[in-house]
Order: sequence, then C-alpha cells, then structure tokens
Amino acid sequence: MNKDLKMEKETFRPICHFSPSKHWINDPNGLVYYKGEYHLFYQYHPHSMVWGPMHWGHAVSTDLCEWEELPVALYPDELGQIFSGSAVVDWHNTSGFQEGEEAVLVAIFTHHGEDNEKQSIAYSNDSGRSWMKYEGNPVIPNPGIKDFRDPKVFWHEESSKWIMSLACGDHIQFYGSPNLKEWDYLSSFGETYGGHGGVWECPDLIYLDVEGEELKKWVLIVSLNPGGPNGGSAIQYFTGDFDGTTFVTDQKEEDEKWADWGRDFYAAVTWSGTEQPVWIGWMNNWEYANQTPTAEFRGSMSIARTLSLENKQGNYYLIQKPLMSNRLKKQLIFSSDQADFGLESPLNIKIPALPFMIDLEMKDGNSPTFTVSLKGKGTLLAITFDQTSQQVRVDRTKSGRVDFSEHFPSIDTMPIDSLKDMFLLVDHASIELFINGGRYVMTESFYPASSIDLVEFNTSIEQADYEQLTIQTIHM
Ligand code: FRU
Repeated sequence: MNKDLKMEKETFRPICHFSPSKHWINDPNGLVYYKGEYHLFYQYHPHSMVWGPMHWGHAVSTDLCEWEELPVALYPDELGQIFSGSAVVDWHNTSGFQEGEEAVLVAIFTHHGEDNEKQSIAYSNDSGRSWMKYEGNPVIPNPGIKDFRDPKVFWHEESSKWIMSLACGDHIQFYGSPNLKEWDYLSSFGETYGGHGGVWECPDLIYLDVEGEELKKWVLIVSLNPGGPNGGSAIQYFTGDFDGTTFVTDQKEEDEKWADWGRDFYAAVTWSGTEQPVWIGWMNNWEYANQTPTAEFRGSMSIARTLSLENKQGNYYLIQKPLMSNRLKKQLIFSSDQADFGLESPLNIKIPALPFMIDLEMKDGNSPTFTVSLKGKGTLLAITFDQTSQQVRVDRTKSGRVDFSEHFPSIDTMPIDSLKDMFLLVDHASIELFINGGRYVMTESFYPASSIDLVEFNTSIEQADYEQLTIQTIHM
C-alpha cells in the first residue's frame, strides 16, 4: 500500500497492493532496481479517473509491499503521450548520460503521437527523482507500423549489447544497441504463433531457471488484448532460445500458454537489476477498466511474483510465487494443526481483518470436488475445484458491485492437472490464487458490497483430504 494512505477509508482501497492516491493508472512501467529501491513507474492520468493523456507516475519501495508515491516522472510533450516502456541502470555509462558518481538510470518508452508511435529515451542522474528527455528523440522512428510500442530493454552479456523487445501489432520485433541511442533491427517473432485474438502489447524477454535442473531457458512474455482465455486482456508466453539476434520457440504454432487465467492480470513485466526475476502486473482488464466502481483512484497492481520454469516432459511452464515481504506481520486465524475439523462441517472461519491468506496442502493430489466461498454481507465469491472436469472455477457473479459493466460478472475457468496445494491472497478488491506451487495462477478483481468476513469450505472437503490448512491475516 501507499504509505500515506493508511488512515484513509475508501472501501476498495487495497492494503498489500499498490494503488495511486488519486486517479487513473494502468500498466507498470520502468521497473528498475537501484541501490535498495524498487522503482515502479506506471501509466498515469494525474487529472482524471479514466484513461487519458498518459504520463509516467512513480512510486518506490524497499520491499515490494509498502510503496511511497513520488511526483510524476514523465509528462507528455510535442512528440506525444508517454506510453509504456522500461528502465535500466546504465552501469558502464554506455549512453554517456552519466554526470557524477551516481550511475545513470535510462528510461526507454513509447512516444504516442497523433500521427504515430515511436521510441524515445530519458535519463536520471539522481536515482530516478528527476528526468531529462534526450534531445535526439525519437531513437527509433516509426517504420510505418500502426501499433509500435512498449519497449522493454535488457543488457545481453553474451553479445555485449542492449536488446529491446517491441510490440508491433501481431508480432514482436527485437532491436540491438551499444548505447541505448542507436538501435539496429535484429529480427521478428510471432505472426503465426500463439494467441492472436487482439493486439500484442508489453513484451518482455527473460532468462529463467528451470526448477530442479542446471538449465535456463528464454521466455518471451506477450500481453494480448483482447483474446485472453476468459475474455479481454491476458498474458501469454513462449518458451525457447535467444542467441542475441533471434528468438526461436520450442512450442508449436498453435500452442497457447497463459501466465494467469484470471481476468485481471495484464501488462506484467519484470524488474531490471534484481538477482531473481520478479514481475508485477496491472490488476485490471481493458473490457471494464474505465468503469470499475472505486471512488478516488482507479486501478492497482498485483502482488509482485518471482518467476521460474517447470519442466514437464520437455514442455516448460511458468512458475510464479507471490513475494510477501518479511516485514508484513501475520496473525494466525486458523490452523488445522490446532483444531479438530471433523466436528464442524461446513467449515466456517470468521475473518477479523483483511488482507488474509489461505494455505491449503492436499494429501497426494487426490482432491475431491469442493468449493471455497468468500462471504460478506451481500457478497459471495466462490472458488470451485472440480475434480471431474479438472478445472478451477471462480464465480464472481454475486461478488458485490458487478453492474458497472456487462463484461464484469463472470465465471472464469482454468484447466489444472491436479490439486496439490493452493495459496490464496485476498485483499479488499482482489484475489490471487496460486495452485501447485505457482504453476497455475488466477488473478481476479471484485468489488464487495461489504468486506469479506467469512470463509466457508463446503461439506465436500473433509479433514482426511488435506495435509494442512492455515489462514493468516496480514498487517502492515
Ligand atoms: C497496455 C497498453 C500499452 C500502451 C499503454 C497505453 O495496456 O495499451 O500497449 O503503451 O497501455 O496506456
């Protein structure tokens, strides 16, 4: 949460997620870690509750949970609005922008003009507090492609150059540069691969560990809007190899891999400069983002998540684990180690405060079909684990305020191969569900009529079915 907002009482204000003190946000931008600070820039309309002329808002955190909002970092100018992009620490001053002892931060973003989209840069010599736009902008002019945006840049050690991934409508283009100012086109990927129900946006090319192996794989992240598995915005990914010039996937053209099956996880990208890959997404969906019923702000970020891969018979899948700061104080509300559940069925657990998290570990992946209901007055959000159809269903049709958009009330599904464990994080207006150690993930927003104060496990699940169940509240 934003440090200064602890006393505020907006009903839907999240606590362990970032939201701006006021007005509209969308994508996370310029994610860079420098000297103990995680920078979170974001698409921001500082004067309005709806999307409009885009700026880069700015917040910093030392633990990815508690955020301090800083002044707007980048304003629109004669080249256009400031659309999504990334930031890097230019440790070796390849750009020549460094002025003193401090390393220079360089932001790479899209200038969205009335005529077209092109890529530009800006730099900061004071740890991201103030920014100068480069006088030679744009650094990549528009080559005649309508959607030409969201540059994500990293330093590629093996080929000693900066690599940029860029979203170009129905494919990704890669560019290379020695100095962040001069860019050469390298290659393209994707026209015939994966989901194409909408526009490709916000790419990220990352190098991830395969769990339990001495192996790393390249993964290309691509946001897609619309065309997600449950409608509207969603994030797909491609596993494969990158040699400094070309990305080659090990998937078939028709394969679709989704990072998150929920309706509300979009435009996620990773932080530059962290030891472990960590990403964060916008918890919203373009189908209804401009109508969500918050009062003072509109839009929030997901919990940050670490990333790795799982190898399943030569197919590689994303593993996401929520990054919960050690500084968060937790209070145990319920533990299967300390009570006899057999007596009480259905299991009703009173929730004294939000946010809270549920940890459930099943016995031997042999789960029955059962439902976990989150309840408050006039509010029901039901999560069903269906063993027969091997599916998770999140039903938010009765979850409180659902009438603000015809696209919002929904029953969303995710195929799973088994249920070994689940971790559920519930904040005032969102759930994030991680199954089997983060192999399957669903993020859903909801707007309760009154705060969730009860968790109910229906009678189909018995104590014999699980190894352990705990519920803890989180205090900041
Ligand atoms: C993704 C996106 C980006 C664009 C930005 C504009 O949500 O459409 O492609 O840069 O939002 O705000």
